[in-house]
Amino acid sequence: MSIQDAVKWNYRYQTPHRSARCTPRSFLIEQAAVLPLHGLALDIAMGLGTNAAFLSARGLRVIGLDISEVAVRTAKARCPQLQAAVVDLSHFTLPPATFDVIVNFYFLDRRLWPLYRRALKPGGVLIIETLTRAMLAVRPEIDPIYLLEPGELRAAFEDWRVVAQRETWLDDEGWQRAVAGLAVQRP
Ligand SMILES: C[S@@+](CC[C@H](N)C(=O)[O-])C[C@H]1O[C@@H](n2cnc3c(N)ncnc32)[C@H](O)[C@@H]1O
Repeated sequence: MSIQDAVKWNYRYQTPHRSARCTPRSFLIEQAAVLPLHGLALDIAMGLGTNAAFLSARGLRVIGLDISEVAVRTAKARCPQLQAAVVDLSHFTLPPATFDVIVNFYFLDRRLWPLYRRALKPGGVLIIETLTRAMLAVRPEIDPIYLLEPGELRAAFEDWRVVAQRETWLDDEGWQRAVAGLAVQRP
């Protein structure tokens, strides 16, 4: 387990901070019409579980994973029906054709993308959104490895049906963010 990541995120989640968002991501809410009403969903790096709770409230069974035990405990308290586990996603695999929905918000590990391709059932929906290189204009200290290149997400899933995509600046609870979002369906 990446001890530094766990320590950093546990500290953030224990401290009153902007990380403590309590609304689901807008790009997830916007895809509500394509989400199945039952089945199994996976929330990758779920944080405090707001996206997971949204999926659960819509009728999906949800597994939420995060490296922060504080996040996992908080998410579970918010949404008791959630199946939540402390996991280091940098050393992880997923079973094939298991999930109806996978969501991955604001956590970029490109090594997971081939796993998503395998782990979704045919017809399953993948929703990803995170920061892009355009962020460097306002936050030059961010390591570019954690930022998406223009068009990168779409290229990684070019053979899947696009449900929605955007590359834009967002006002996210008062913070300006350059983001790319992609919702795609496995053939
Ligand atoms: C910016 S937050 C995003 C949380 C949530 N997905 C959201 O949209 O609000 C990034 C999350 O990634 C988690 N994380 C960081 N490194 C991780 C790792 N190696 N394995 C699992 N989770 C990790 C952090 O604990 C944190 O909750």
